[in-house]
Amino acid sequence: MIRLAAWLDPHTLADLDTTGIGPGARCLSLGAGAGTIAAALAEIVAPVGEVVAVDLDTSMLPTQPGITVVQHDLTTGLGHLADAPVQLVEARLLTQHLPNRRALLNAMIAATAPGGSILIAEVVNPRPYTLHAPALDDGNLVDLVLNVLGDAIEPDGADMEWGREGVHNTLAEAGAAVHTRWHAETWTGGSYPIQLLADGAFQKRDRLFAAGLTIDDLDRFTDLPHDPQLTVRSYEIAFTHARLPYDGATRDHPRRARGGRTRPAMTPRAVRQAGGIPAHPSGAQCAGPGLRTPSHFSRSRHGPRHGDRYR
Ligand SMILES: C[S@@+](CC[C@H](N)C(=O)[O-])C[C@H]1O[C@@H](n2cnc3c(N)ncnc32)[C@H](O)[C@@H]1O
Repeated sequence: MIRLAAWLDPHTLADLDTTGIGPGARCLSLGAGAGTIAAALAEIVAPVGEVVAVDLDTSMLPTQPGITVVQHDLTTGLGHLADAPVQLVEARLLTQHLPNRRALLNAMIAATAPGGSILIAEVVNPRPYTLHAPALDDGNLVDLVLNVLGDAIEPDGADMEWGREGVHNTLAEAGAAVHTRWHAETWTGGSYPIQLLADGAFQKRDRLFAAGLTIDDLDRFTDLPHDPQLTVRSYEIAFTHARLPYDGATRDHPRRARGGRTRPAMTPRAVRQAGGIPAHPSGAQCAGPGLRTPSHFSRSRHGPRHGDRYR
């Protein structure tokens, strides 16, 4: 889990920077795992903000000021977690595994305050595969293991296409301004992310034996991630950032329900109509409690009035 975080955290933290989240915000970290993102968020929203870190298994979550740990099964929805609006919801490598993924995403949208952000990251196809190996047999072995690992994940209900388009489209259809980027890279033997593969093979060794691999194959596979002659195309991750409209006009908003057209969230006109952004005492512009002005906004003199939108 920590290796996963070491690989993905720089990407998620870069996305967090674009949300404009700041001191005082209330955030949800769903399927928080080892809590590395919850911990980073807790520092950002300190001293009065709160990060609610939610997982079925809370044993790895940090206990630190600003983090409230909640043990909750998200297949039942958000429940009481949605009682108070949040400025940011973050869920990485979670929703694709849950049967209620679309309903849960819609619940996240409903729980997020106007102008707030939703960050989702999911693994998508294609599965990792070998680009270069010390020998042909090694490449075949690695690809066989990668396929068995992939098969082991997907029958558990994981949807490897959901992150490619489903997440983006569900958020866009709800009226959010959505940006998705897909990231894959080469992993060379000896680098730490490739150890994820060795870890995965160890965890799923029963499946590998069932697929006909021998102890020797598994030993060889465990050695290969240390060999600099092995290069694998990594998992591909879809990182989606959605910002909800500042005027609260998401799909469930009465204006939409009446059939009214909703404005794109980030147009200068939408911001102007919401009241303009005053200068923040620190010199930075402020888009409301817990939200700093997103970078693509800071060129505009206009925006919502400080404190207007969460009343
Ligand atoms: C692949 S890990 C990702 C952890 C973390 N988001 C990260 O990216 O570092 C998925 C996490 O979701 C949690 N999870 C899985 N099913 C869940 C459920 N039904 N309700 C709550 N958490 C769940 C797991 O316990 C695990 O911590």
